[in-house]
Amino acid sequence: MKWYWKCVIDSGKALFPFQRQLRQIKYTLKPYPGDIANEKLTIGQGLLEVDWVRQVRSWDGLAVMEVGTGWQPLIPIVFSLAGAGRVYLADQNRLLTTSSFASTIEAIRREKHWIAERLGIEVSKIDQALAWKPADGLEAGLKMLRLEYMAPCDCRAMPLPDHSLDVVTSRAVLEHVPPQVIQDIFHESRRLLRPNGLNCHIVDNSDHWEFRDKSLLRINFLRFTEPVFRWTTIHSLNYQNRLRHSQYLDMLRKASFKVIREERDIDQPSLEALPTFPLAAPFRGFTPQDIATITTYVLAEKS
Ligand SMILES: C[S@@+](CC[C@H](N)C(=O)[O-])C[C@H]1O[C@@H](n2cnc3c(N)ncnc32)[C@H](O)[C@@H]1O
Repeated sequence: MKWYWKCVIDSGKALFPFQRQLRQIKYTLKPYPGDIANEKLTIGQGLLEVDWVRQVRSWDGLAVMEVGTGWQPLIPIVFSLAGAGRVYLADQNRLLTTSSFASTIEAIRREKHWIAERLGIEVSKIDQALAWKPADGLEAGLKMLRLEYMAPCDCRAMPLPDHSLDVVTSRAVLEHVPPQVIQDIFHESRRLLRPNGLNCHIVDNSDHWEFRDKSLLRINFLRFTEPVFRWTTIHSLNYQNRLRHSQYLDMLRKASFKVIREERDIDQPSLEALPTFPLAAPFRGFTPQDIATITTYVLAEKS
C-alpha cells in the first residue's frame, strides 16, 4: 500500500474517541498477533544492550527502567534473565495485556537456545524462569520475572526515589517522543540514576512510513518541512521527531551524561541518493553520515 493511503486511514482513525479502550477490547477478544521477525530483532537488540552494559558493569541485581515497553516486554525479560534485580516497565500508554504477555513468553521460549548462549546461562534457567501460563494472570507473570509495570506514567517525573536505578534504557521509542520531552526524560534519568548510572538507548531514525511502503527511501521523510510533515502524524502513534544521530548525543551531554560508546547503522542507498535528494531546510546543516544514519546505539554514563 502507498504510504499516504495508510496515513489517511490512520488519520481517520484518530478522529474516533476511545482508541485506547477499543485496542484493549480487541486484544481481550482475540490473541495478540506476535510477529516472529520483529520479535527476533527486538530480542537481538535487547541482547546487544545487555552486552554493552555488561562490558562496563556486572548485571547481578541491577535496577533497570525501560522507557516505552509497548505491547511486548521482550527486552525487560532479557534483562531479567541476564540477572537484573528489578526491571521497571514505564510507558505513557497502558498497552500490555495478558495476551500480549503470553505472546512475549512464547517468543522468548522459541529463542531460548540463542538467548541462553548469548547470556551465558543454562537453557534450564530460562525454562524455570518462564514457568507461567495465561491462566496464572499477568500480575503473577510480571512478579515471576521481577518486572514492575508502571503505565500509564510520565517518564519526565517518575514515582521512584532519587538514585534508585542503575540503567535507563529504551529501544524504538525515542524517535516517537518530542525533542523537549526527550531532554526532560534525560534530566529525570539523571535524578533517578545512581552515580555512574547508565543511559542505554537504541533509536530507529528511519522514516517509519517505509515499513508500509518499500518503494520509499529510508530517509524519505527528510524532504518535508515541519508543518507539512506534521500532517502525516495526526494519529499520535505515528509521531516521529526526525532527530538525527548527533542530536541524541548532544541531548545526553546537555543532561550531564558522558557518551562512552556510540555506534550507528548508515543506510547506503540513502547516502548515495543524498547529492540529488531534496532535503528540507532544517536538515541541510547535518553531515551526510548523520542524515543517512537509520539506527543510533548509545551508552552514556552519569558524570
Ligand atoms: C514503537 S513502540 C516500542 C515498544 C518496545 N520498546 C519495542 O521495542 O517493541 C513505542 C512505545 O513508546 C511509548 N512511548 C511513546 N512516547 C512515550 C513517552 N513520552 N514516555 C513513555 N513511553 C512513550 C509508546 O506508548 C509505545 O509503547
